[in-house]
Amino acid sequence: MGDHQENIYELRPATIMRTLPQIRDHRLFQLKLDDGGSWESFGHQPGQFIEVSIFGKGEAPISISSPPTRCDSLEICVRRAGKLTNALFALGKGSRLHIRGPYGRGFPVETLKGKKLLFVAGGLGLAPLRSLLLYVLDRRHEFDDLILMYGTNNPDNVLFKYELLSFFDREDIKYLYSVDRDEEGIWKQYVGVVTGLFDRTTLSPQDTYAVLCGPPIMYRFVVERLLRLGFPKEHIYMSLERMMKCGLGKCGHCAIGDRYCCTDGPVFNLSEIENIKEAI
Ligand SMILES: Cc1cc2nc3c(=O)[nH]c(=O)nc-3n(C[C@H](O)[C@H](O)[C@H](O)COP(=O)(O)OP(=O)(O)OC[C@H]3O[C@@H](n4cnc5c(N)ncnc54)[C@H](O)[C@@H]3O)c2cc1C
Ligand code: FES
Repeated sequence: MGDHQENIYELRPATIMRTLPQIRDHRLFQLKLDDGGSWESFGHQPGQFIEVSIFGKGEAPISISSPPTRCDSLEICVRRAGKLTNALFALGKGSRLHIRGPYGRGFPVETLKGKKLLFVAGGLGLAPLRSLLLYVLDRRHEFDDLILMYGTNNPDNVLFKYELLSFFDREDIKYLYSVDRDEEGIWKQYVGVVTGLFDRTTLSPQDTYAVLCGPPIMYRFVVERLLRLGFPKEHIYMSLERMMKCGLGKCGHCAIGDRYCCTDGPVFNLSEIENIKEAI
């Protein structure tokens, strides 16, 4: 929770400062707080989420995509999926909504400091990982080598395209990218599922930590690959998604075995969930 936050249920008014189209049905929203609060005092950690609500339209959990090192605005990357997100897409600059949070357990930033990091993202899974990725890039000296593997189903579906392209010019991040299909034959890089990218780099599992987020199918294959390469289970963290209502550990909607995704997660270490059959 944020430092200032005495009432964990508090609904805070926020205004949309800017919307940035991403790919089809995905949009980035930059928010500012209207109650005089700052995003510094909001105090979110990479990997946490907020509940976004629009009166009369509902509420939905959305990951925070911006890092705590950049507090001019809070960024969320949203896919148009249903009632709340459709209403959100109908809003523009200057429109008001409400948020509560930050909620959940994010990535263990202190554990990751000084370590080599491997990010594996699929599709919209880049949204929660981006908060950690930008945090690491903003405090680059506190971390060792950095590799990002990102896969999408086709070349048109790359989120944060220009940000990612800029990584090709940097020497302090290795960016590997895959598309599942390239029907037009225009893709110059790897065509295939994201696990294929493991053949394009050398990893040292004993001193590397992996952080994953993507569609459900991705986890099983990536985790299998990491374990085969010799990654200890304790070095594998993943952000999971479940249907949520309260976001606060009260309603039980988001149960994963005996854990709640909203309070025990959404970020879990593999060793915590390996015996819960439906977890991944
Ligand atoms: C921790 C966490 C982080 C998340 N982060 C993000 C994020 O960063 N960006 C993002 O875009 N999304 C994110 N999500 C997902 C987002 O919360 C859901 O897509 C949410 O349901 C959207 O709300 P909605 O009201 O727009 O859609 P809903 O109206 O809830 O619809 C969502 C989907 O469920 C289906 N559905 C709805 N009602 C029913 C029903 N009765 N029976 C069957 N199917 C139904 C709809 O057809 C649609 O496909 C996150 C979820 C979690 C748990
Ligand atoms: S959403 Fe209510 S307990 Fe997790």
